[in-house]
Amino acid sequence: MPIADKSLLRFATTGSVDDGKSTLIGRLLYETKSIYDDQYAAIEKTSKRKGFKEVDLAYLLDGLAAEREQGITIDVAYRYFETPKRKFIITDTPGHVQYTRNMVTGASKADCAIILIDARNGVLTQSKRHGFIISLLQIPHLIVAVNKMDLVNYAEDVFFRIVREYENYSQKLDIHDIVFIPVSALKGDNVVEKSKKMSWYDGTTLLHCLENIHVAADRNLVDFRFPVQDVIRPHLDFRGFAGKIVSGTITPQEEVIILPSGKATTIKSITTYDGELTEAFASQSVVLTLSDEIDVSRGDMIVRKKNLPQIENNLEAIICWMDEQAMTINTPYIMKHTTKYTRASITKIVYKIDVDTLHRQPADTFLLNEIGRVEIRTSAPIFFDSYKINHATGSFILIDPLTNNTVAAGMIRDAVRHIEDYEVDKTFDGGKSKKSSNVIRRGLNIELEDREKQNGHKAFVLWFTGLSGSGKSTIAMELERRLLGRGCRIALLDGDNFRHGLCSDLGFSSTDRKENIRRAGEVAKIFFEHGSMVLCTFISPFAKDRYFVRSLFPQGRFAEIYMSCNLDECRKRDPNGLYKKAQSGLIKDFTGLSSPYETPATPELVIDTESCSVGECVDMIEKFIISKSIVPNKDISL
Ligand code: ADX
Repeated sequence: MPIADKSLLRFATTGSVDDGKSTLIGRLLYETKSIYDDQYAAIEKTSKRKGFKEVDLAYLLDGLAAEREQGITIDVAYRYFETPKRKFIITDTPGHVQYTRNMVTGASKADCAIILIDARNGVLTQSKRHGFIISLLQIPHLIVAVNKMDLVNYAEDVFFRIVREYENYSQKLDIHDIVFIPVSALKGDNVVEKSKKMSWYDGTTLLHCLENIHVAADRNLVDFRFPVQDVIRPHLDFRGFAGKIVSGTITPQEEVIILPSGKATTIKSITTYDGELTEAFASQSVVLTLSDEIDVSRGDMIVRKKNLPQIENNLEAIICWMDEQAMTINTPYIMKHTTKYTRASITKIVYKIDVDTLHRQPADTFLLNEIGRVEIRTSAPIFFDSYKINHATGSFILIDPLTNNTVAAGMIRDAVRHIEDYEVDKTFDGGKSKKSSNVIRRGLNIELEDREKQNGHKAFVLWFTGLSGSGKSTIAMELERRLLGRGCRIALLDGDNFRHGLCSDLGFSSTDRKENIRRAGEVAKIFFEHGSMVLCTFISPFAKDRYFVRSLFPQGRFAEIYMSCNLDECRKRDPNGLYKKAQSGLIKDFTGLSSPYETPATPELVIDTESCSVGECVDMIEKFIISKSIVPNKDISL
């Protein structure tokens, strides 16, 4: 196979020197013939001098240890080797808690991580912490190498005890692919050569596993994102935009939008050093030219017209603090997000995570190596996706403008939406409540968490709002079928159906609509408390009514989905002939004609039903649900 065709795998090793990390890396380099004869001769000599029977391959990495002793800081060490099948970059990150930031930096771009566990010691707090960071960084593959099997007589039960214990722990984490391999880095068992001493193990060797991990499926090839790095203008007739496609694919003629200006155009050409391309995809560096003369500058983002990122300046993120100086709240830092720099301050610490116990604690600052969840406000909106579905547009760093130090690495969860930001009408029932003080609320008999565990997904409310004919019911029904296929428990509350039964006493005045939405919200709440995914399709034209419904649910468990469709198009569709009737005066207070519709200002999702097919709309909502970890991302490779 020609070298150029070989795929590249970046993997991070973590564990302490005592776990045999250096020996393992040394063994991989030695057996893949990635070291020179004289290097080998030198360590052979050292091993003999120290009285070892075997050549201790850990000495290969001694250079680093020596530098460390001399006080030279080595953040992360990179090593390179290749086999006939693949090229590898090893990111070697130190294991102790005081090196958490190094691990975060080093491992963040890895396709796979190897955690080393010393078979004699079993699962230590440290091995759990490493798993947590790998989960946080969403590294798609984890190999747990149970090392020093030679020192436990290659015992099967020792290995499986560790497997069971680690599996027990990793269930709490968000890691989808874990492989356990019993090895002896010192003797070479199951590293490159299959061990003859562990016939009970029928899995692959470590190298075989590394050579065969399927990484292409881990890349996001769906959402085209092109952060502009440079504007290239070699002469007056050419104006191109250089950068790296961080996710998705693109072809000439496709319709795109430039952010933040929102201007639409099409791709004219895709150029690389080697000539023009008919298609380009994630991780390629290209120059794009556009069909129209549009002002584009560094830090802008080119995206596909029908697939936009979120555009917000209040974000919720997980950060790892990396500076010696503690974090200060409400202090301006510089955020570097893709190719864009913007001022940003941390406005709130939601919690700090004890990386050893995973417990969440209140905090008012972060010290070096601490990790937690925060809210951040940026001075200009940024264009992002959640880190879960897009590492490139979901991550950022914070820089101290005074020292120029990178003070934090962050992963965006979502935009911040606070109930208190909405003007909730506290007297929502208009003071008409006849609730007797003699009615005592019974608490939930079964905890929501227990129901969710049984259902295999989270309870969630998707509130579809939009004009009559905008596609709320059609799309919700298709989504319902899709989610049923995933084994979800679903309730679909349909506005039209509600008006036939529960709300048959209500008309379409604003007071009646308010009551209609109140009842719908309360019913949704009952289904929610019983663990369902609740799809609600109501015109719900008034923002205040929608805010009220939102206030019934915990933060992050309610999403407003605005079905965006032009009134003219809805009129054209007119599925039940109601627009026609309303126009001729037969229906009064008709939304969009004789009664207003207040477009949502900050919906979680906008679905353009005018230009997207039903399938595309449902795809977007499904992807959103997965990005929020409401249903497990089982069979979708993002
Ligand atoms: S809402 O405004 O109170 O949220 P809801 O979604 O329950 O309305 O019901 C709207 C449905 O009732 C529409 O799908 C339409 O078929 C029907 N309808 C009848 N009269 C009206 C009207 N005046 N305005 C809007 N929809 C109406």
